[in-house]
Amino acid sequence: MRTDRRSFFRLLAGAAALLAGKISAAKSTPERFDIHQATRNTRLGALGVRWPRLSGPPPDHKPYPRKRRVALPEWVDEPARTLAEIVRLWAPAAGFGGAAITLAQLGRLLHFTNGITMTAPPGGKGPARRAAPSAGALYSGEVYVAAARVQGLAPGVYYYEVAQQRLVEVAAGFEPLRLADAIESPASVEGAAATILLTNVFARYSWRYANRGYRYALIDSGHIGENLRLAAASAGLAQRDLLAFRDDLLNDLLAIDGVEEAVCSVHAIGLPGPARDAKAEPPRVWVEAQRTPAFTARGPISERYHAATRLTPPGEALARFAMPKDVAPRSLGPSLALPAPAAGPALKLEDAIQIRRSTARFESGRLSLADLGHILEMAHGHAALARSENVDLYLVVHRVEALEPGLYRYDPDHHQLVTHRTGSLVGDFTRVCLGQEKAGTAAVGVLMVARLGEDRALASTRRYRDMLVESGAIGQRIYLAAESAGLSARNLAAFLDDDLNRLLGLDGQREAAIHLTMLGPGD
Ligand SMILES: Cc1cc2nc3c(=O)[nH]c(=O)nc-3n(C[C@H](O)[C@H](O)[C@H](O)COP(=O)(O)O)c2cc1C
Repeated sequence: MRTDRRSFFRLLAGAAALLAGKISAAKSTPERFDIHQATRNTRLGALGVRWPRLSGPPPDHKPYPRKRRVALPEWVDEPARTLAEIVRLWAPAAGFGGAAITLAQLGRLLHFTNGITMTAPPGGKGPARRAAPSAGALYSGEVYVAAARVQGLAPGVYYYEVAQQRLVEVAAGFEPLRLADAIESPASVEGAAATILLTNVFARYSWRYANRGYRYALIDSGHIGENLRLAAASAGLAQRDLLAFRDDLLNDLLAIDGVEEAVCSVHAIGLPGPARDAKAEPPRVWVEAQRTPAFTARGPISERYHAATRLTPPGEALARFAMPKDVAPRSLGPSLALPAPAAGPALKLEDAIQIRRSTARFESGRLSLADLGHILEMAHGHAALARSENVDLYLVVHRVEALEPGLYRYDPDHHQLVTHRTGSLVGDFTRVCLGQEKAGTAAVGVLMVARLGEDRALASTRRYRDMLVESGAIGQRIYLAAESAGLSARNLAAFLDDDLNRLLGLDGQREAAIHLTMLGPGD
């Protein structure tokens, strides 16, 4: 009897901790699924909510008083390409030429990365809208430039002041060695003109979305970073993602603390040059901070996760996590070939970014199979675009020509759909998306499903970051492909995780939905 009472109280304490978003408060290291579990939406709301919220949201920009400002000039037209041309030919920079880019080129790139694209939002509600979507238009993402070779701009570290389309000098002078020390392969960025660093100010999202805000922040970085990568390619610039970086060194470079605001995505840009011999470099061995004996972390789960997955020099590294067994094969319905890829819409990428919006209303028409095929080809993209190979695309189909409503998975290797089940999902899908009507009125929902339980994903807990960023990048390509084809899109990342995973036939542990973009004819 006494044991029963004890287990009851233990259960109660566990539930309270779960609701408070403090699943592993007693432990200093997050277990591999803690962060995913702690960022779920449940029937009781997002985990970690602290009510009441007495103050308004934190400001969506940083003030930097008394710092030198540099206006970004009006840009001249650069060569521009279509989304399909860019995605199909995309390759990371083999090398950088070492020549300077102009301030106008940099300004143009920053504008299409996350500049203001709509000054007066519909109905005068909310802030000016930007090139990339943002959960609740709260804009947790910030953009910085470490400039080495930009004509008309002294080398230095700059903050992109979005509303004024200008740069704020955070630190004068830029010592390229500081960047070289912080990345895996310094040779690969030799001769780059600048490095663009995307950060998140986490409180802007946690203020409204509690722990789930962490997911949204990283997904945002994926959306913003994808604009950057595509716009750089469109303008003929070379670009390289730097996925493995020493967090502390880069946070120091930007004079941010790595807790309230942290670097989440890093991209070198410049003029193309001959390939560098990166093989000659000695390999750098870094481990996640949580695997070092000295590691301790405090604060809310999302802060602790970000701190735990910082890359640092090894010291005495602790053991890796155990890998789970392989996922059991599923029995599935027939595969349906999608129409062969065609040239794609003629709209230039920059125009698609400029007009991109989250639609206010989906219309009742159907999506053609050809449009769906094209958008999925763009969403999956060229293999070289992937930051994580562990994100699959599932489709909840409501209204597509020649396709029964139901649940499908995109098989990118054969450009076909694999049937998981048929029958209308309008009611169930709307319910698991917290009653958001666009979940039922759009023609299709594209779900980014992370294979969390696979070896490659678990080789490091940090990979969860990559999967979130990757799903944001996919979402951005869906928005831009839809916009190019005269269609509309809207992210609906607020969903009940357990119910949605159940609806999709996923166990939520090895595989789980992490992001969702709705698609269809719209206004
Ligand atoms: C991570 C993320 C999650 C979002 N989730 C939702 C959502 O659940 N419901 C919704 O209506 N819009 C959602 N949005 C869309 C935003 O509300 C929209 O991007 C924002 O209002 C800015 O408008 P814009 O995209 O037209 O620039 C989400 C956007 C992002 C980036």
